[in-house]
Amino acid sequence: MIALEKAKGPLKGDIFVPGDKSISHRSIMFGALAEGTTEVTGFLQSADCLSTIDCFRKLGVEIEHSLRPTNGVPTITVHGRGLRNFKAPDSTLYTGNSGTTTRLMSGILAAQPFNSMITGDNSIEKRPMKRIMTPLSQMGAEVISVMGNDCAPLSFTGGKTLRGINYRSPVASAQVKSCVMLAGLYAEGDTVVYEPALSRNHTEIMLSAFGADIHNEVARDGSAAAILHPGMPLIGQKVNVPGDISSAAYFIAAALIVPGSELLIRNVGINNTRSGILAVLQQMGADITLLNVDETSEPKADILVKYSELHGADNNQFVIGGKVIPTMIDELPVVAVVAATAGFDTIIKDAAELRIKESNRIDTVVEGLTKMGCDVEATDDGMIIHGGKPLHGADINSHADHRLAMSFAVASLVADGTTRILDDECVGISYPSFFKDFQSLL
Ligand code: S3P
Repeated sequence: MIALEKAKGPLKGDIFVPGDKSISHRSIMFGALAEGTTEVTGFLQSADCLSTIDCFRKLGVEIEHSLRPTNGVPTITVHGRGLRNFKAPDSTLYTGNSGTTTRLMSGILAAQPFNSMITGDNSIEKRPMKRIMTPLSQMGAEVISVMGNDCAPLSFTGGKTLRGINYRSPVASAQVKSCVMLAGLYAEGDTVVYEPALSRNHTEIMLSAFGADIHNEVARDGSAAAILHPGMPLIGQKVNVPGDISSAAYFIAAALIVPGSELLIRNVGINNTRSGILAVLQQMGADITLLNVDETSEPKADILVKYSELHGADNNQFVIGGKVIPTMIDELPVVAVVAATAGFDTIIKDAAELRIKESNRIDTVVEGLTKMGCDVEATDDGMIIHGGKPLHGADINSHADHRLAMSFAVASLVADGTTRILDDECVGISYPSFFKDFQSLL
């Protein structure tokens, strides 16, 4: 448990946040699938990404951590085995708390010549896996949920020949899309995944840089398509991981709500499938400026954010919904905290996916904000936050959800009294040094 007090003054600073979690996972995975070596800098050393490294080591992939001899930059070197040279694992692959590891690895395991099993912690064993089992089965894979509840542990039968599919995913999910694309690398024929709105496209960008023939298109009915023609060899690359906008989000929110604050957050990934939080907060009147924008490969920029008086739309309401939701799905808890401090109502809708994240983030956010004195109600697909009531410290259950722990740390900055966050060590999932970095600004 960590005890946090209200900020005594403005937050000022020039900071970096750790590497992007989604891109870090993919750098290891695609490096492992490629021929030759992949060198990764800026890799996120957090529990989730280390789970991905562990799983690939169990498949016989050599992965080294070292310092670059020339400039001492920490580097991960992945010695790729190519698509078809993994070794059968001796035991069940364990993915910890990582949904990305579980779902993306499943696409790879489904296509191997050997049998395998994958599972993770208690949270992972409750998260829905039917969303990947359905398309993988349509491709000819044999995957079963061992407990028969459509959750992990999942067991894969080796030696299946996969065929490409046209798959209409009912949800905009990069984990589903990427799982199917990875299986598609092994399939006969093309694979196309349609999703109702474009989810993060790091897989498409990075696989293409490794040599795969893969791209995004807008389909005729307006849905987003990812299209893969398999058969191109994957070749190891140098990957430089930008800072994670999902981690930067806590500092953006903190600067916006603590009067007089000004923070510069350097080298943050601003891929437009991830940066919905910036657009939404700017529409609310947030003073956020992008500096040194670099559009090559994964776009990145320095983000300058200043304390701002936020405003709703004409009727003193602000609605967040529709296609922007997948581009800020992991930031919605901290956006709810910002909304709680603003003098208008915020309606978050079309975000039922929040219910099946590391915790049920509709219920857990509403629970925590209510405890702090906010007037907030849960809806089926989001929440309605009647902002502007003063917040007070409270004992907050993070439900071992890293994004909850960090979001309520931000809320503590404007809450009278002490805020205690239970299971605060869960921040190690995505941002191990979060509380050190956060408290260094106070
Ligand atoms: C991720 C995709 C998103 C996101 C998760 C990381 C990824 O999940 O919430 O934190 O790296 O592909 P969904 O695909 O379930 O939306």
